[in-house]
Amino acid sequence: MKIFLNPFVFIALIAVTVNVMATPEEDKKTFQQFYSERFSNIDLDEFSNGVYALDKDARSQWEAMSDFPPYEDALEEGEELFNTPFENGNHYASCFQNDGQNIRQNYPLFDTQRNTVVTLELAINECRIHNNEQPLPYKKGDIAKISAYMASTSEGSATNVSIPDTKEALSAYQAGKQFFYTKHGQLNFSCANCHVQYAGRKARSETLSTALGQTTHFPVYRLKWEALGTLHRRFDSCLINIRATPLEAQSETYKNLEYFLSYMSNGLPINGPASRK
Ligand code: HEC
Repeated sequence: MKIFLNPFVFIALIAVTVNVMATPEEDKKTFQQFYSERFSNIDLDEFSNGVYALDKDARSQWEAMSDFPPYEDALEEGEELFNTPFENGNHYASCFQNDGQNIRQNYPLFDTQRNTVVTLELAINECRIHNNEQPLPYKKGDIAKISAYMASTSEGSATNVSIPDTKEALSAYQAGKQFFYTKHGQLNFSCANCHVQYAGRKARSETLSTALGQTTHFPVYRLKWEALGTLHRRFDSCLINIRATPLEAQSETYKNLEYFLSYMSNGLPINGPASRK
């Protein structure tokens, strides 16, 4: 991917300094404030629509498509899968609070027993394993459909990721934050370079979305994939674009990155699944 950048964006680079000592709550405030100042005409909740909050032309095409969303069938299949009992007669609902309805906004969560981040997809597979079923592959297929259905039951609920007051939870958050701001790949870009500093500008023909709101609408149906994919699959695409090596889905690094990114979007409405280019 060729990236065209204006020289004056380097001024913006200086404007965003990363405070390594800040608490997650302070980080979130600074993060959200940065975007609301940069895009002062856009309501905070609108960032849940990703690039379509910023790019008017792309938005009208996208809105036209949403009359018949391309993920409709997959979403229905997801509901069916979710409600199909396992061989032992139990259901997915038995593994989750509130029978798995309207809980998407609380994920990823931090499990203080195991000291690890639990994403919704991980919890889905752990539910299967607990019920003597094989785990599903993580990036696409049935797991994305089930996750999409679960997300749809949280439509409009505010992202509500919490960080328990333990050393381990904080360090998982910090690791995610560090990955986000560290440069990767042969092109030597950080996530923040494109989705914070250059957000709203073009990389080739695509407008770059804000990192704020990036987690609210997953899994996403990408026209490029012709299918639903999970957030970790999307992380792969960005890493490949900057010629970095993608990581395993549900690796500690990806989970921590998701934890950080989701926490930054606390308060923004869940609106998944969604469609993207
Ligand atoms: C060279 C620029 C670039 C870098 C670096 C980059 N991305 Fe992206 N990313 C894009 C482009 C282009 C898109 C598609 C347009 C959009 O939605 O921003 C995208 C899309 C995304 C999306 C999907 C947004 C949506 O609404 O569906 C996520 C999530 C994402 N990037 C996360 C990351 C993360 C995490 C990193 C760091 C590992 C990263 N990106 C690094 C260019 C970049």
